[in-house]
Amino acid sequence: MKNVGVIGGGTMGAGIAEVVARAGSTVRVLERAEAVDAARERIAKSLARAVKAGKLAEDESTATLDRITVTTDLESFADCELVVEAMPEIESLKLEYFHKLDDIVSKDAILATNTSSIPVIRLANATRHPERVLGMHFFNPVPVMALVEIVTTLKVDPAVVTKVADFARDGLGKRTIESKDQSGFIVNALLVPYLTNAIRMYESGFASAEDIDEGMVSGCGHPMGPLRLSDTVGLDICLAVAESLYAEFGQAHYAPPVLLRRMVDAGYLGRKTGRGFYDYS
Ligand code: CAA
Repeated sequence: MKNVGVIGGGTMGAGIAEVVARAGSTVRVLERAEAVDAARERIAKSLARAVKAGKLAEDESTATLDRITVTTDLESFADCELVVEAMPEIESLKLEYFHKLDDIVSKDAILATNTSSIPVIRLANATRHPERVLGMHFFNPVPVMALVEIVTTLKVDPAVVTKVADFARDGLGKRTIESKDQSGFIVNALLVPYLTNAIRMYESGFASAEDIDEGMVSGCGHPMGPLRLSDTVGLDICLAVAESLYAEFGQAHYAPPVLLRRMVDAGYLGRKTGRGFYDYS
């Protein structure tokens, strides 16, 4: 894939742009005018971290950044062979962009979504070619986490699935797993009920946030406890996935805890806003 587009330069979009550009592709990232500088800064900061950690040479970092253009112009995505959408989890917004992209890219281009909570087939059906639409679900932090979940739909062309999985593995150096288009796919269907159970435990006053997290880090060898991980993922994302699981499967244990809703209402979205279960300011 020589030319790749990424829609959205937030935490996930910036991470996806970074790994794709590090693999040698030219990347265009679509952002709102007021967020262009922040998106570029986010990518530069992550690359600097990789250089500092000895994972990337300084000249490779510069070359990677040179391959990335953050733009407000969706028309400039016309020559992209693959576009990965990584916008906020707002269905109407995603539908609008899939609809627009369908007219801009060539008919052979592949359209992927990084959604964690919206059925991929709904986005595919916003295009005239749903057979070239699939889920390409990355994990946060994208440059560090080894996995890409490939999400197939009832309409996707198997050749498209193979091409994207090959690119994720051989191009980006990720491991891949394949899931059908059901809520949570594989990872979030297992992870998010665990996170919301931890939030319920904290909400009930049963234990402190620090002790819940320490329990899973020191007792089970997890790299991060569930409340800190919820803050890292973003509480708005945790809520969106929990709501989607509850809507899909209807069982009470999938329902989002009230505290999670109130924290999102309060704008306490975790690490990205400086406050969640912990204070990052
Ligand atoms: N590029 C490449 N490597 C990088 C890098 C970058 N931009 N930034 C950091 N690294 C490397 C570091 O060099 C380090 O490598 P070594 O272990 O080989 O030394 C490694 O990444 C970890 O970095 P740090 O030492 O800075 O950080 P840490 O040890 O505190 O670990 C963490 C941080 C990786 C986030 C770890 O805590 C972790 O794995 N947490 C769990 C994260 C997780 O579960 N993510 C999935 C969330 S679910 C999701 O995202 C899906 C969804 O839809 C909700």
